[in-house]
Amino acid sequence: MKIVLLGPPGAGKGTQAKSICNRLSIPHISTGDIFRKHISENTSLGIEAKKSIDKGQLVSDELTIRIVLERLKNEDCKSGFLLDGFPRTVVQANALDSFLETEGQKLDTTLLIDVPKDFIIERMSGRRVCLTCGASYHIKFNPPIFEGKCDICGSDIIQRKDDEEKTVRERLDIYNQQTEPLIKYYRDKGILAVIDGTQAINDVFKNICKVLGRDN
Ligand code: AP5
Ligand code: MG
Ligand code: ZN
Repeated sequence: MKIVLLGPPGAGKGTQAKSICNRLSIPHISTGDIFRKHISENTSLGIEAKKSIDKGQLVSDELTIRIVLERLKNEDCKSGFLLDGFPRTVVQANALDSFLETEGQKLDTTLLIDVPKDFIIERMSGRRVCLTCGASYHIKFNPPIFEGKCDICGSDIIQRKDDEEKTVRERLDIYNQQTEPLIKYYRDKGILAVIDGTQAINDVFKNICKVLGRDN
């Protein structure tokens, strides 16, 4: 299946992406994770992306589209993939559609994880992430088994620099202006499914599986 995950910062895209990709055996492509990996390795792409990310602003469409399309050309994406955090602008959505069209493919569904703004600041302030494998934790809602360590790969988990309240508010503004129009974009194409993201992590996952027809 070819899936796009849409939703505001802190909606739970990364959290759900891990479970969906395990269930469907498809690769998880998170632009945020790709950028953070480049930043931690100090590559030229990472240095460029960091300027925008630290301010809570979007990385340029040109750079983002280039890395995603390169990733989608990999053999492991031929039978399906899950995009988490891409597209985030109408320009990116158009670029994805054109790419898939030339490959004779199309998206199966867009899952919008819907969470009101009030939930988001609390989720972000308690979030801890693993830079090695991309797993997300929450000190209250989803703590790791061993404090400070990733359950999956054992690396240290850290607080993201862009999770301070001021930057989160900037990210929310940008989401409203640039990414929210994609809800209509995909609804008009008839491939939008809205998931209530305010429930517990497992319940959100059950609803997603129902929508995907994989709730067995
Ligand atoms: P990115 O990393 O994609 O950040 P984001 O979209 O702001 O989303 P988050 O990763 O913050 O949240 P999430 O929805 O994954 O939530 P999570 O599962 O972690 O992007 C970062 C930056 O990179 C952007 O600001 C931009 O600069 C740049 N960028 C990325 N893509 C780009 C693009 N396409 N174009 C241009 N620039 C781009 O959950 C959040 C917390 O809540 C966790 O602690 C989790 O444990 C907890 N939680 C999750 N679900 C629940 C639940 N149901 N109940 C209680 N707690 C929960
Ligand atoms: Mg994420
Ligand atoms: Zn890890």
